Amino acid sequence: MPATARCLEVGAGAGSVARMLARLCPSGDVTATDTDTRFFEDLATEERITVLCHDVTEDGFPVGSFDVIHARMLLCHLADPALVLAVMSEWLRPGGLLLVEDLDMGPADVLPHPVMRQGLHVAERTLGLSQGSDLRLGGRLQALVTDGGFILGGTEVQPVMIGDGGPADEFWRLSFAQLRDFQARNSDPLADELDAALSLIDDPDFMDLGMYAVSVWGRKPVQPTG
Ligand SMILES: C[S@@+](CC[C@H](N)C(=O)[O-])C[C@H]1O[C@@H](n2cnc3c(N)ncnc32)[C@H](O)[C@@H]1O
Repeated sequence: MPATARCLEVGAGAGSVARMLARLCPSGDVTATDTDTRFFEDLATEERITVLCHDVTEDGFPVGSFDVIHARMLLCHLADPALVLAVMSEWLRPGGLLLVEDLDMGPADVLPHPVMRQGLHVAERTLGLSQGSDLRLGGRLQALVTDGGFILGGTEVQPVMIGDGGPADEFWRLSFAQLRDFQARNSDPLADELDAALSLIDDPDFMDLGMYAVSVWGRKPVQPTG
């Protein structure tokens, strides 16, 4: 990545990637956006980082504003990820780099442990119904990027374990607990299934493949295609 790159981090969350981009591009700058900037407001005091409350589905940037655009776990929450990729393509300069990352919960379908399989399915379904999230988008990410007219640079798929004490455990602990409370408030018996899955995460005898983390990168063509 060129040291002078103008970077855009979309859906910056807690801001860790924006901070990393600023380090990687010591003579460039980073615009970090989110609809909720509370968790990375502190970055606004750092040189070369701009914090912006910005909705990627509604707000714009001038054409060709950035050399690099990154988004992790953002597209899966949006109703029309293809449209958002098209907009991101406009914001990139010709030859600019796009890197998008999302999850694919396909492995949850074949988990041998029925409690975790059911817990993950309940969580996935509830997130889908309540927020419209698609936690399998990772499996379609490469096709979305190439269909969006980007020249594919590469795709990396990493297994994400559950029950191994890694970062995904905390993600699922929080998600199960939050969804469990939601179901319990509605006297839904699914709350018990989420409770059981929650306990299993910390069972020393349990560990299995929960999902894949998929990263896809590509470049905007220098010459317009088609
Ligand atoms: C699952 S979090 C991922 C955060 C961060 N990218 C990460 O990987 O740690 C999704 C983030 O996208 C943000 N987000 C959701 N819809 C958005 C939108 N339309 N425009 C900009 N950000 C959005 C959320 O506020 C949240 O911070």
